[in-house]
Parts: sequence; structure tokens; C-alpha cells
Amino acid sequence: MKIYAVHGNISEREDAAIVVNLFEGVTDPGGATGAVDAALGGAVSDLIAEGDVSGSRGEHTLIYTLGRLPAKRVVIAGLGDQSSFGANEARDVHAGVARLLNSKGVRSYSTVAHGAGAGGMDASAAGRVAAEGIALGLYSFDKYKSAAAPSSLESVAIVEFDRDRVGAIGEGASDGVVVADAANLAREMGNEPANYMTPTRMAEIALEVAQESGMELTVLERSDIERLGMGALAGVAQGSEEPPKFIVMRYHGDPENPENNLALLGKGITFDSGGLDIKSASGMLTMKSDMSGGACVIAAMKAIGAFEPKINVWAIVPATENMPGRRAQRPGDVVRAMNGKTIEIGNTDAEGRLVLADAMCYAVENRLTRIVDVATLTGAVRVALGDAATGIFGNDQAWIDRIVDAGAAVGERMWQLPTYDSYKSDYRSDIADIKNTGGAGAGAIAGALIIGEFAADSSWAHLDIAATTRTTSARGINPKGSTGVPVRTLVELAMSLAVDEQPKKTAKA
Ligand code: BES
Ligand code: ZN
Ligand code: MN
Repeated sequence: MKIYAVHGNISEREDAAIVVNLFEGVTDPGGATGAVDAALGGAVSDLIAEGDVSGSRGEHTLIYTLGRLPAKRVVIAGLGDQSSFGANEARDVHAGVARLLNSKGVRSYSTVAHGAGAGGMDASAAGRVAAEGIALGLYSFDKYKSAAAPSSLESVAIVEFDRDRVGAIGEGASDGVVVADAANLAREMGNEPANYMTPTRMAEIALEVAQESGMELTVLERSDIERLGMGALAGVAQGSEEPPKFIVMRYHGDPENPENNLALLGKGITFDSGGLDIKSASGMLTMKSDMSGGACVIAAMKAIGAFEPKINVWAIVPATENMPGRRAQRPGDVVRAMNGKTIEIGNTDAEGRLVLADAMCYAVENRLTRIVDVATLTGAVRVALGDAATGIFGNDQAWIDRIVDAGAAVGERMWQLPTYDSYKSDYRSDIADIKNTGGAGAGAIAGALIIGEFAADSSWAHLDIAATTRTTSARGINPKGSTGVPVRTLVELAMSLAVDEQPKKTAKA
């Protein structure tokens, strides 16, 4: 798929379809829509006057041009209410149109960059959200369908009338493609069944990403994990025949300044059966996606490797299954994490915090001082927030704010939950330093705080994506299934941290 910017008048494009737009309440369209209206002898304003076209968000009106324009079809995309239209809405509109035209077998179309004019976005942002919306909206997971219809779309031209803005739209679009490709990689990994997406496969994908941009990769095997004293991870992994992998990717964007660092930790449970505290059939059904946090940090590295920001970024993914095999750990067992802290197993299904405990120790030991972990950690976060926002927690308010801001900038919502000291008594153990389960309420907070026990002096934030990592129906840029949240936030975070040092680079071609 090629997405590019081009100078010209969209109504003159010879293409299978051209896409213009309409805000709700506009009766006399101007700009590109006005030009198309004029060429069609007022057909668009007639449709508006008759009430057949309203401009409501998500509305698609397909008009055949019958030779009055070089293009065969015009799509009028409704943008909705202008006052509530911004980058997120533009992304969704581009996604919806791309899906519509792809489903009609269109191989190429031309579109305006919605929001670039009356929407108030600058040219680069408008190009970027166009490309993100198109590339994210077109993603589908159908590799195991024998008769899957191949995607028809080969290219989309973003047409801009003002010559001075074409360059910036094009640069924005190429950045958008990089970021969307990264999010789509995370989606692909999250959608893969657990018999394919094993810890070994995750490590192979990390290797492919590392090789693309010359990053270092270390993969620790079961014996290394045990030797290094990662007893919390080893305890989870011992119930599975599938070899665990502790995956570490290192991108050195500012090697002279090791304090300019970012550690991205991702939960990599490739299947969560619950272990001996086994889940119900329905509770287990989507547990192939319990490695989504790990997928997101590996995928974010793909975009970071392309953008080359001036910052050192590590991705750390403890990857294993959580299975009730014959060597499985038992409720009541005590394990020892890499930093020596002991953990009593209150429930073998609270495994994410265990594997992340050792990942945190590893990050701290390697003097990483700004840590974000991403995990499908708790069902409780859905009770708290539904799927409207990812839950965020941490030990440093400025650090949390920075991540929330990065999320807001790319349209991935995060909502902070409290981490009062008083919650800490919930996971007190009678026989070990802590246990891996909390009390009756606040399950998402207890889970977060248990991970935070291993943060030492580092700034740390935890993103609980259990409710935002999958959707049960297609909506906006998200198809059904894995969403790739929060890949775009992580990339934005790395770029914004690097901006403090030097101007942002755009992607390599
Ligand atoms: N992977 C699950 C959390 C989860 C649940 C993710 C639903 C996505 C959808 C996690 O490992 C888990 O089982 N958490 C338990 C913790 C409990 C045993 C303290 C939970 O949320 O019930
Ligand atoms: Zn889990
Ligand atoms: Mn679990």
C-alpha cells in the first residue's frame, strides 16, 4: 500500500474514486467539495437540500459522475459537527472511507486531507492522520481464511490544492505510515493464535525488528533466567513445555548520555490458562492476547528504529505461557525475584505481575531510570474504566503526566487511578515479603502496586491495557480483534523525550 501527497485539484484527478467531505449543517459547500458540486451541476447541494446528505460523522455518499468528472465515483465523507472535529475524528473518517472503497474493489483513490482546512490541523498533522487512518483502518487478520479476498487497494493519493503545503502533508503521511505499520505489527501478533505466537516466535519477530535498524538483541533462555535469579518469571514458566524467552532489544540513540533513557516493558504471556488456578472456558478464550503488552513494545521499537530519535530505548519482554503442566507452580509457593524480594503465590493466575517483577529488576539493574510497563494485567481495570481508556498508574506524577499527554496527542486515552500507600496492606504476606494478590477490591491498583514494588528509584508508570487491547466489533480505526494500543503512544513518548534534546527527525525513506 502506497500513501502519498500530490499537488493538484482533486476534481481533476483520473481515479476510480475521489473523496471530498462535508461538515454537518453546511448547505453550500466550498473548497474541493464545492468544485465537485459545480462540476456535477449542483448534485451535491441538491442532495443536501433534499436531506439525502447531512454531513453526519461516518456518513458515506457515493455518487457516480457519469463522465462529468475524470473520476468514476465521488465519495462525500461526512465529518460531523465542526466544533468537535479534530485529529481523532479525521483518522476515523479516513479509516471508514478506506474500508468502504477497498470493499468495493477499488485499487486507487484520491482524497483530500480531512481537517486540513476548516478542521484547523496543520499540513503535516493532517497528512499524518490521513495515512494513519487509512493504514490502520485497512488492517485485517485473515491469514487463516482459505478463501480470504485479497485487499484491492494499492495506493491512495492525498491531493492538496495549495502547492506550499504538499511537502508537509507528504512528510506527515510517511511518518503516519511508519507508526501505523508498527501498530499493525502489534495487532498481528495479538491476533495470532497461541499455537503460533509462542515466546520463541516473539523472539524471532524481535530479531527481525532489531535487524531492520541495527539494534542489539539479547534473548535469555530458561537456563539463563534461572541462573540470573529471575525466580518470579521462572515460576510462571515452569508449568509450560514451551520454552520461555526473556527478550531485550536495545536502541542506542544517545550513547554518550546513558541517563537519557527509556525502558519499555511488556507482559509477554503468550497464553494465560490461569495455571493451576485455572480460568473458566470463557475467561480463557481471548488469552492468546495476553502477550499484547510485549507485542506493543516490540512493535514500538520498529517505529523508533525508523525515526532514530536521540534517546536510548530498551524494550524488555518476559515471554512465557502460563500453563498448569505437571511442574506448574502451586498456590502458596514462594518465589524469589531477581532483586531478592520474595513473593508468595496467592493465585497462579496473577502471573503478569510476576513476570514483570523480574523485568523491572532487570531494567533497574541496567540503570534504566524512566520505565513504562504495558500489560493486560487485570480484569478489574475493565470494571473501573470499561474500554474507554487505558488505566495508568505510577510512582512519579510528572512521568505519568508525560505519558498521558503522549497518549492524548495520538488519540489513545489513558486515565490515572490512585496508588495510595493504604492499598499496600492488601498484598501483605504472612510468610514472604509480599504476595501476588490483593484484597477484595481495587484489583487493578493492587496489581500495579505489586509491579511498582520492583521500581527502586526509577520513575515508573504502568499501563493496564486488559480492556483496551481488543475490541469485539470494528469501530473507527479499529477492526474487530487486537487494537495495537498503546503503540502510537509509546512512539510519541520516545519522540517527545528526544525532542527535548534535538529537533525531531522524520522517518528514513
Ligand atoms: N491476563 C489476565 C487479565 C485479563 C483478564 C486480561 C481479562 C484481559 C482480559 C491476568 O493474568 C489475570 O488473570 N488477572 C487476574 C488477577 C487475579 C487472579 C488477582 C484477574 O484479573 O482476574
Ligand atoms: Zn495474564
Ligand atoms: Mn492470569
